[in-house]
Amino acid sequence: PRAAPYEAESAQVVKGKVESNHTGHTGTGFVNFDVVSDAYVEFTVEAERPGPTKLDFRYANGTSADRPLDITVDGTQAADNLSFPGTGAWTTWKTASVTTNLTSGPHKIRAATAGVDGPNLDSLTV
Ligand code: GCU
Repeated sequence: PRAAPYEAESAQVVKGKVESNHTGHTGTGFVNFDVVSDAYVEFTVEAERPGPTKLDFRYANGTSADRPLDITVDGTQAADNLSFPGTGAWTTWKTASVTTNLTSGPHKIRAATAGVDGPNLDSLTV
């Protein structure tokens, strides 16, 4: 994978806020999704080689309820309701992953809320 993660706070954020009030995030903060069903963070990433590629989303969810997100790549679904289960605290960051086929080159990877609030999203590693 690319050495540095793609930071959510540097991605396109629609219906979400960049915040930094919980420690342990990388970069300068994380995205707190608004409580609506079409909030999203869209990362523009570069795939180094074609083929099955793991997308690692680093997040925190201080509740005990799942906060699933829909993941699309260039507008095509890669994961419907990818699970972002509770991490135990808003300061405890874990990874939710999905493997998807990518061509080499640039891609737009979007993580969107789907009916419930999202987790706090820190970064994406490709
Ligand atoms: C708390 C927490 C936020 C989080 C929110 C939520 O307010 O401080 O960082 O985003 O809960 O439930 O989504």
